[in-house]
Amino acid sequence: MDFIDLKSQYLASRDLINARIQAVLDHGQYIMGPEVAELEGRLAAYTGARHCITVSSGTEALVIALMALGVAPGDEVITTPFSFIATAEAIVLLGATPVFVDVEPDTCNLDHRLVQERITPRTRAIIPVSLYGQPADMDEINALAERHGLAVIEDAAQSFGAGYRGRKSGNLSTIGCTSFFPSKPLGCYGDGGALFTSDDALATAMREIRVHGQSRRYVHTRIGVGGRMDTLQCAVVLAKLERFEWEIEQRQRAAACYDDLLAGSLAGLLEPVTLRPDRSSVYAQYTVRVPQRERLQEILHAAGIPTAVHYPVPIDRQPAYAHWAGPGGCPVAAGLAQEVLSLPMGPYLDRASAHRVVQALGQALAQLQPGDKAA
Ligand SMILES: Cc1ncc(COP(=O)(O)O)c(C=O)c1O
Repeated sequence: MDFIDLKSQYLASRDLINARIQAVLDHGQYIMGPEVAELEGRLAAYTGARHCITVSSGTEALVIALMALGVAPGDEVITTPFSFIATAEAIVLLGATPVFVDVEPDTCNLDHRLVQERITPRTRAIIPVSLYGQPADMDEINALAERHGLAVIEDAAQSFGAGYRGRKSGNLSTIGCTSFFPSKPLGCYGDGGALFTSDDALATAMREIRVHGQSRRYVHTRIGVGGRMDTLQCAVVLAKLERFEWEIEQRQRAAACYDDLLAGSLAGLLEPVTLRPDRSSVYAQYTVRVPQRERLQEILHAAGIPTAVHYPVPIDRQPAYAHWAGPGGCPVAAGLAQEVLSLPMGPYLDRASAHRVVQALGQALAQLQPGDKAA
């Protein structure tokens, strides 16, 4: 069993993907070819945002978003410590200070109730992460940001395609950033990412920053980066878009299947991440909280069940970031980091495989020391 089955996904769309790649090889416009604008148009329409700007990765999207907002040394940016490192990395790359606010224990997303007390006159922006595929409490975060004149960047690297109160992830705040890393719900075959906004001035800035701050050829009106997404990668995403809605439904079906099976035989032994009723998840990961995680992982590995940990160390406890840890740290994130375990997930995971995973989990839990089972 694969943790994420990219092979079946390729086989299901092989003709379309091959044809799209061949078209790029035929026209030869490898940089900023027609597929780039085509993809940007399709993705903007999909999210409802006025602008989509494709970029070279999800990390670069975050960097470009912060650059467009003018974030600079001395500024503070509030974010979650329970994310992939890129979320905070983008902040420190610009010389700004990350301010880590703890997460909710049931969704693992930024706890908006804790944000207010960390806002200072130096705060410029808030970066909530829509972790595991579920949007954070964006309306509450946006309202708080508006009261304080702050920008909100949704890190939607894991949640592209998810819904939130009738809107789409990526189009829930000042700027949305996503990633097309191959294992993401909408992935390419290399690195890629995109920015979304409905603010015309920010869109212009981000388009220019993506190409070395260039407003016209060899006219550099601002500092930028080399951040374009390859035409070939845009072509792959265009091909995968055809089945994307169906794949999201299949991911949700697989997650419902896990929910069912876990609520049956394993009820009370582990805690799945909670999905709030006013939003949907694209299940970039299906994550549960378990006791004795390392031991459990070993037993599952021996039984042929691959698992992963997102994430074993919160960012505010990473060696290069610990000096930015706030007073008291983020105890909820620290606890989650020891308990979370992601199970095999994807649109091509069938009920029989989900059943095998849950059965192996049940057997593994039964092998743990008595008294250590409460999650
Ligand atoms: C939450 C989050 N933010 C940012 C990124 C960075 O995306 P990329 O790998 O495309 O640079 C990722 C990718 O793993 C992610 O999961």
